[in-house]
Amino acid sequence: MGIDYQKDKQVFHLYNKNMSYILQIIKGEFVSLRYWGRRIHCFHDSNKLLFYDRGFGVNIDKEDRTFSLDTLPQEFSTNGLGDFRSSSIAMEWSDGTSVFDARYQSYEIRQDKQPLPGLPSASGEFSQTLILHFYEEAHDIQLDVSYTIFEDCDCITRNVSISNLGETSCKITKLLTSNTDFNHRDFDLVTLHGSHTNEKNIVRRKVSDGITMLSSLRGTSSPQQTPFIALCDPNANEAYGNVYAFAFVYSGNFMANVEVGQYGSLRVQMGLHPEAFSWELAPKESFTAPEVVLTYSYTGFTGMSHAFYTFSQQHLIKPQFRNQLRPVLLNSWEAAYFDFTQEQLLELAKKAKDVGIELFVLDDGWFGQRNDDAHSLGDWYANKEKFPHGLDPFIHEIIKLGLRFGIWVEPEMVNEESELYRKHPDWILHVPYAKPLVGRNQFVLDLSRADVCEYLIEQLSNLLSNKNITYIKWDMNRHLTQVSSALLPAHKQKEVYHRYVLGLYHILETLTSRFPNVLFEGCSSGGGRFDFGMLSYMPQTWTSDNTDAICRVNIQYGTSLLFPPITMAAHVSAVPNHQVGRITPLMTRYAVAMSGNLGYELNLNEMIEEELHCIREQIENYKNIRPTIQQGDFYRLKNPFHQNGGAWNFVSKDKKHVIAIYIRTLSMPAYCVETITLRGLEEDAIYRNSETQEIFGGDELMYAGISIPRVREDFTSFIWYFEKL
Ligand code: DGJ
Repeated sequence: MGIDYQKDKQVFHLYNKNMSYILQIIKGEFVSLRYWGRRIHCFHDSNKLLFYDRGFGVNIDKEDRTFSLDTLPQEFSTNGLGDFRSSSIAMEWSDGTSVFDARYQSYEIRQDKQPLPGLPSASGEFSQTLILHFYEEAHDIQLDVSYTIFEDCDCITRNVSISNLGETSCKITKLLTSNTDFNHRDFDLVTLHGSHTNEKNIVRRKVSDGITMLSSLRGTSSPQQTPFIALCDPNANEAYGNVYAFAFVYSGNFMANVEVGQYGSLRVQMGLHPEAFSWELAPKESFTAPEVVLTYSYTGFTGMSHAFYTFSQQHLIKPQFRNQLRPVLLNSWEAAYFDFTQEQLLELAKKAKDVGIELFVLDDGWFGQRNDDAHSLGDWYANKEKFPHGLDPFIHEIIKLGLRFGIWVEPEMVNEESELYRKHPDWILHVPYAKPLVGRNQFVLDLSRADVCEYLIEQLSNLLSNKNITYIKWDMNRHLTQVSSALLPAHKQKEVYHRYVLGLYHILETLTSRFPNVLFEGCSSGGGRFDFGMLSYMPQTWTSDNTDAICRVNIQYGTSLLFPPITMAAHVSAVPNHQVGRITPLMTRYAVAMSGNLGYELNLNEMIEEELHCIREQIENYKNIRPTIQQGDFYRLKNPFHQNGGAWNFVSKDKKHVIAIYIRTLSMPAYCVETITLRGLEEDAIYRNSETQEIFGGDELMYAGISIPRVREDFTSFIWYFEKL
């Protein structure tokens, strides 16, 4: 891994074992991407960048009619200088004009990676960083574009920061972190689309003319679109083909643009959504945009996912959680909703302990006057009816049972019916001329305000001062509307969306530093904010409010494009399922939930002994295979979005343990025997099926495969366990 600079050719070559990313300074002032893809050893620049004299070209150099920014592949696209594609930046100068003419000036290569101020960003072990300095002379602005290449994953992070060195304030009205120009458009575009209870559907389409924009203006990254796009060869699949992917390390509004240029080139951009955004840059101030991570794979989508997994596991997730196995938990939500007494919960906890649960999670309903969703968000003290002596004695009882204890909070919100709102009605996002809007009976607290953030830090620190709370489920159940802050002047109101996210990150950074061993699980009505920004603070996320095993096959499969199974909380829940009414066998519910970070979310008090026995066995089994599931490699085998079910397998890092899972959605009267071929095994090794004792070669399992037994029931699942001999 390294970054070479060839002075004579003005070429920067960023490389690791598998990938090269090559930039060239053009005419001493612009920076172009010359190549990005499979590792090449030396870039000779014999194949020059070609320019032709073209109609409507505006020539930045009047001596050269062939040279126009409109056809130049650019790493950071200027504004108002004849590149008519979407720009990387838009400024508003004090005289109302907006042309931004920054030229390349110099570079720096560093052996480390600096953290980004106030933002989550990848840590820089085994990495090198190239910083390109650009300068805008007319307004004395410096712009730095940084690239970090990593040794342990095929990823490059990019970020952009802008500094006002002048004497006059100006405004940033658009600042996209990444801009990548490809010289062809022969790609498919893959995105993750969804909604509440139906997150992360994989959508694949041909790149088409014009601009395709994926975005969120909901104040969070959202379940509707994930801040991720991939471009792949039209024939790329799980194992073959080039894939170029981009993901945003950010949890608020975003935009990703895929633009086919007039001659068939392709511009791909990602960054803060420019709508409803601006940032005042006063003299001597700087602004840093959130980070984008770029991944290249020549081994199809598996290569892409594995690069993202290593990136998030080794560079985003807090170090203390990187190698830590996650506890099997029982969550009270679908077991009891708001309706419980502490005695009932203790009964549930006893049963939980008895079946092997390790962590008891008290979900919503434990605080203030909270008996429904219309009350008490904001009042983070124990509900006196449910816990007359406070939470401590209850927690103590849970600990005495030999369980860990965790608790749910939704700190970013407040109910109208709450002490906090009555005391501080101006603490919510609102506009002075309209009634504040509710969603799930709640308002959004204005996290752009320092006083609100400090209040929340204090409240949550009080809660966490009870050392027995070792897990927090951090929920966020509505999107932002009437986005305005009572404290900011008129010309800064468009900063509120971003300031909200910065406020949230400040709270999370403070709490996770103060309480480094507390395991945080992110949640936004399920996977509504499942992004790399949140993962930097919260090593796991509640993948979806939809706990139906069959729906979860798709949701978890889609989520796995970006996020490793250890980060995906997945629970076995009751039947008929509470979201879709489906009845699936307990075995299938387990097969799906054990494919992630296993938990249970049902009322064990209502279950018969036979079912409890099965659950006991499941948990015991999961504890045995947990290192393979949570720390091994994950391979997708059969895509449920196109077929009657899905399949995947796990392989431990030492390749000794293999677990394969197959789910059939509907039983069919006539079909040929299906075979699944496993992936990631040791070709020459011999594997034994732990249940049947049958012997297979690694190559046999991977190339000849295993046949799926006859299915006579809907929603059937199979799990195979293999050991290397
Ligand atoms: C939404 C979450 O996704 C659920 O799991 C549960 O915690 C509820 N909120 C509680 O209100």
